[in-house]
Amino acid sequence: MFGQDAMIIGSESVAKSLLDKRSTTFSGRLSLNAHSETGLDCNTGFIGCNDTWRLHRRMHHDAFRREAVPRYHSSQMRRVHILMDNLLERPELFEEHLQTFSASIILSVVYGYEATSSTNPLISLVERVDKLVIENIVSFEVVVAAIFPFLLKAPTWIPDFGVKKKISCIRARVYEAAEAPFKYAQDALMQGTVGISMVSDVLKNWEDKIKSTNVEDALKGAAFTAYTADAETTTSVLLTFMYLMAVHPNVQKRMQDQLEATIGTTRMPALEDRQSLPLVDAVLGETIRWSPVVPFNIPHRVTADEVYEGFFIPKGSPHYREIFYDPTKYVNPEHFDPDRFLHSDGTLNDDTSCNMIFGFGRRVCPGRYLADNSIWLVMTSILSMFNISKAEGEYGEDIEVAPQWVSGVTT
Ligand code: HEM
Repeated sequence: MFGQDAMIIGSESVAKSLLDKRSTTFSGRLSLNAHSETGLDCNTGFIGCNDTWRLHRRMHHDAFRREAVPRYHSSQMRRVHILMDNLLERPELFEEHLQTFSASIILSVVYGYEATSSTNPLISLVERVDKLVIENIVSFEVVVAAIFPFLLKAPTWIPDFGVKKKISCIRARVYEAAEAPFKYAQDALMQGTVGISMVSDVLKNWEDKIKSTNVEDALKGAAFTAYTADAETTTSVLLTFMYLMAVHPNVQKRMQDQLEATIGTTRMPALEDRQSLPLVDAVLGETIRWSPVVPFNIPHRVTADEVYEGFFIPKGSPHYREIFYDPTKYVNPEHFDPDRFLHSDGTLNDDTSCNMIFGFGRRVCPGRYLADNSIWLVMTSILSMFNISKAEGEYGEDIEVAPQWVSGVTT
């Protein structure tokens, strides 16, 4: 790939042995010249293991580590309630409502920005930029610019297949998307109207250091990464869940029965109920196994020569994984079956492989606890209030659902 050796990992044990246990050498990133030209090199996920990346990780860790996420629960609950209202009013727009939900949570926890409707300017900005990032990380123009970097500096009369124009358009959009919400958080802090958020916490607590440009740039980049990393991934898991519930009404009914038996019908589910609802966790695990949202992970780069079980792995190789469909571990892997994650008495078994959806080692997704809570809350709230079913045709017949997977970094 781009003239370098690539390695695809198709086994859970190999992935853990290399990416977790040898994470010192397996945590680099493939850096493309074109990413610095587009401004996308401010994204934590594209930075190599250097001091800037460590600064980003520290900011993400402070904001999203397991012990920090409970402070966002009330914000998440508020947005779940808005989502339920929106679904009640216009159920047919469920995809748009789920996107608005994900975008509004991340804007709130990253910038302290409170948005409720899909027409809010910052919500539309998140959606546009997210699409732009997903579509362009490996778009034709970015790949051409990566292979022929001289094109970016070539005089205008040399034909460049639209590469320069596309790259400068991405750069302008990335700049706008990173600056606009950051400025909102800075102004809100000055006016004393800001709540808890990743950006306001760093601006307040790192008061001395923030004056240095590289710390402010790192914060802008880390915040921009968090808000683009969340919206698409969380929505994608939730849309897959909606589809699976529509085509597996028996699983949906089992979950609704467990919800009703555990929390009754007079209140909404809360994260404190999680331990008592093992089937929800089994369905969540099976949903992300059945359709892993980032199926090829973000490629890691090997930063020193390695040997593994007699195989030489040269420095510089990127590697990927495709392990959720391993038939030796999952019988009929194409089949959706949450019971894979349950003992016969209905309690959860010890298979936690679905956590691999969040990556490995030092590069593991820092937003995993926040995303997991949001997804759990939406799944349980929707099933407490609604039935998900196929649409009906003119004569009351079921219309079969034909999901259309779009290609890109996420499915
Ligand atoms: C369902 C939701 C999500 C999924 C499936 C997901 C998945 C991933 C994966 C697979 C990676 C690459 C890990 C690796 O290289 O091994 C990643 C990286 C990352 N994610 Fe997430 N993510 C989700 C939500 C979030 C959220 C909510 C945030 C922020 C609040 C976030 C922030 C990041 C960042 C900053 C990175 C780059 C880490 C680095 O390169 O050091 N993600 N995510």
